[in-house]
Amino acid sequence: MNPLLQELSNIGIVPVIALEDASKAVPLARALVAGGLPAAEVTFRTAAAEDAIKAIIAEVPEIIVGAGTVTNKDQLDRAVAAGCKFVVTPGFNPDTVKYGISKGALMLPGTATGGEMEQAMSLGLEVVKFFPAEQNGGVAKLKALAGPYRTIKWMPTGGVNTRNMMDYLSFDQIACCGGTWMVKKDLIEAEKWDEITAICKDCVKTMLGFELRHIGINCENAEEAEKVARQFCAIFGLDCKVGNSSVFAGTAVECMKKPGRGKLGHIAIGTNSVARAIYHLGRQGVKFEAGSESVDAKGKIKAIYLEGEVGGFAIHLVQK
Ligand code: 3PG
Repeated sequence: MNPLLQELSNIGIVPVIALEDASKAVPLARALVAGGLPAAEVTFRTAAAEDAIKAIIAEVPEIIVGAGTVTNKDQLDRAVAAGCKFVVTPGFNPDTVKYGISKGALMLPGTATGGEMEQAMSLGLEVVKFFPAEQNGGVAKLKALAGPYRTIKWMPTGGVNTRNMMDYLSFDQIACCGGTWMVKKDLIEAEKWDEITAICKDCVKTMLGFELRHIGINCENAEEAEKVARQFCAIFGLDCKVGNSSVFAGTAVECMKKPGRGKLGHIAIGTNSVARAIYHLGRQGVKFEAGSESVDAKGKIKAIYLEGEVGGFAIHLVQK
């Protein structure tokens, strides 16, 4: 995938902004970055869009800025000249899309039907917007369309919010979700930047969905691993599952057949998306052990170890 689209996919959520006053653009962008969402689609619904885009690019370089609600060539020219990294259109207008491509813009055109998606694919596009997502049948429609269209990825926007975004984001053909729910007009007008940051953090927390999956106990050998696992199974009535490198008691306790990572053992933290968790934890300075990742048959990352230990335990992320 195009590296910028990959980054949007890792971020997972793209705030869609309509600004009446360009002077609010920079504090708003900083609030998004502080909340863990370093991406914004600034819509050309307002006259302030162009100045807002320029101000954000100049002052908050760590955020990926795109233009939204681009409906004609003039707006597209202005978005590209302002330095936008991507251009989103609400509907599928082949003229505007082709023009954008000819200008080197990364186009994310709005689509709602198979016909529009096919046209976008025939123009070489990897990701399209699905708009308005909820009104068009939501993720159920995309899952049906994914039957014939196996490679295209979608950015659903329109009616998405913290409560329903996981319906979309847990489907592998969703690149990211877009929406205005964390940047509502009243919050921007009242300059409630901390509140916007808090909503963004809540979105990221829900998206990553961290929870304890299992504890790993380092045993000396296979015999000891099985003995310890069977103790847990006997006490709690769990099933014992003997694997290649460990023995599981239910899903909560993993007894390693030889001393594994971590002075005391390891802790597995489940997440809705290992790739997105790596990105978001990486932004906070968390480092991962190169080569410790495991991937599934489709190349999707399933697990990875963090560098170092916490409280004597090695920590790994695992796909829920
Ligand atoms: C858009 O332009 O993509 C939509 O207006 C965003 O939809 P939402 O306000 O329902 O999030």
